Amino acid sequence: MDDIQVAGQRQPKVANHGYLRTPKFIDRMATEIDFKTLTAHAKENGFIYQSSEIYDGLAAAYDYGPNGVLLKNNLKEYWWRSMVQLHDNIVGIDASIFMHPKTWKASGHVDAFNDPLIDNKDSKKRFRADVLIEDHMDKIEGKINKEVAKGLKRFGDDFDEAEFRATNPNVQRYVQQYDEIAKRLATAMTDGNMAELKQIIEDLGIADPDTGSKNWTDVRQFNLMFSTQLGNIAGEEGKLYLRPETAQGIFVNFTNVQKTTRQKLPFGIAQIGKAFRNEIVARQFIFRMREFEQMEMQFFIQPGTQQEWYEQWKEARMKWHLALHPQSKLRFHDHDNLAHYADAAVDIQFEFPFGFKELEGIHSRTDFDLGAHQELSGKKMQYFDPETKESYVPYVVETSIGADRLFLATLTHALMDEQVPGQDDPNNTRTVLKLHPAIAPVKAAIMPLKRNDDRLVNMAKDIFNDLRFRFEVQYDDTGSIGKLYRRQDAVGTPFCITVDFDSIEDGTVTVRDRDTLEQVRVKKEELAGMIGPRVGMGTLLRSAQ
Ligand code: GAP
Repeated sequence: MDDIQVAGQRQPKVANHGYLRTPKFIDRMATEIDFKTLTAHAKENGFIYQSSEIYDGLAAAYDYGPNGVLLKNNLKEYWWRSMVQLHDNIVGIDASIFMHPKTWKASGHVDAFNDPLIDNKDSKKRFRADVLIEDHMDKIEGKINKEVAKGLKRFGDDFDEAEFRATNPNVQRYVQQYDEIAKRLATAMTDGNMAELKQIIEDLGIADPDTGSKNWTDVRQFNLMFSTQLGNIAGEEGKLYLRPETAQGIFVNFTNVQKTTRQKLPFGIAQIGKAFRNEIVARQFIFRMREFEQMEMQFFIQPGTQQEWYEQWKEARMKWHLALHPQSKLRFHDHDNLAHYADAAVDIQFEFPFGFKELEGIHSRTDFDLGAHQELSGKKMQYFDPETKESYVPYVVETSIGADRLFLATLTHALMDEQVPGQDDPNNTRTVLKLHPAIAPVKAAIMPLKRNDDRLVNMAKDIFNDLRFRFEVQYDDTGSIGKLYRRQDAVGTPFCITVDFDSIEDGTVTVRDRDTLEQVRVKKEELAGMIGPRVGMGTLLRSAQ
């Protein structure tokens, strides 16, 4: 995990070989779009804009445009309905962003939610020491990938990647280097050993990536919470924090929710909301932001059952992702070094254009959080078990995913350049966003064949005004049909409905499928029945079960 595992301290990157690209993946690269093109596409098509762009932007803050907000809402709905609607024993809340400052003392964030910082004395730039080391490790991983790609090229279909990895001396040398660094980094991070982090940077000869200078300061801890001040209380007493995770809003409400819903253990509380972290390294577009949205679920269980529930949630969450994304893009990544209050933790990683990175974390958090709140608040955070007639502080298994990261993963996988289906000419290509129809921002676009014919326009508008009551649709007559189709492909609209001169005669329209480009003629009265079930959330939700 590249972020915190649970409240308190960030977890270091650990060695993780054996997951590099398969030959199949290398083949598919030809149609995938590079990261720069993806960010440009996101802006040009109304998905994501830089925050306050007219003032040259604010780093690590982004705004969702008209298509972006629709897509993000659909992703959030997919998560919420999977969690809350489809589980009798999971309920939702919406806690406030501001919480009593003692919350963050109890959770460990005030004392230990830190990043190790290092400054370059020449360039005056600030870096995260662990990220500098991780970037160095990524370069080594890149060299391993290169060797594997060379092997694939040399041996073609006979290439046995596992065998190659186990025997190629270059790969083995790089793997050993990588593992040694990973181990040192993990130990230094777990021990909070800032001097050792600096030593690793010096030993590896890591330079400022922009200037090449190796003139570094010592490494020091930097707390990531944003703070603000209450208007009516001066000084420390009035200091408030913007929540760095939504989870604590769930923990402090545990007894409220349990009592008012009369839920019995095991049960979960889910929440979607904003979180804020003063990230030092804020880059890679919406992957790491200072203001972002989390979708978290705390599952409260009987102590001693955590291993079983941890495994169940791991499986359930992976299934949820697989309903949206291919298996080759996803993997588990175990944590070797656990924080003292966790007894198991794993990331679900996604292959972003810059490599496999954390998308979601699943953490067995023991009774750490409820126990800490009980102690500091003096209020009981216990559950009376009607079967055993005992009271205890429940254990917790948490699932935590960033909505923005999920958005980026979805765009990364869905956006592609491809040869136009049904066309022989390989140079005849299109850019298409192959989103699952249930999460596509717009489900169908309705367009008249000619915009200067009132009969076509009126019929298209009638269809639009009917369908808009059922799902998200768009009316468009601002260009030629070919141009309008391409525009809809670029934002992932699964269906285009065209009203032509036959439509006026017989009341039928053409429906074009985004992926196959097949066109069928359908009576206008049958449109809702045909498209509705294919763009609804039901199929997606079912396939995630
Ligand atoms: N409550 C546990 C927790 O917050 P985390 O791994 O720090 O764990 C969970 O965060 C998820 O939140 C991550 O897997 C990631 O998807 C998302 N996330 C964390 N920091 C982020 C950031 N700066 N920008 C965007 N998403 C972030």
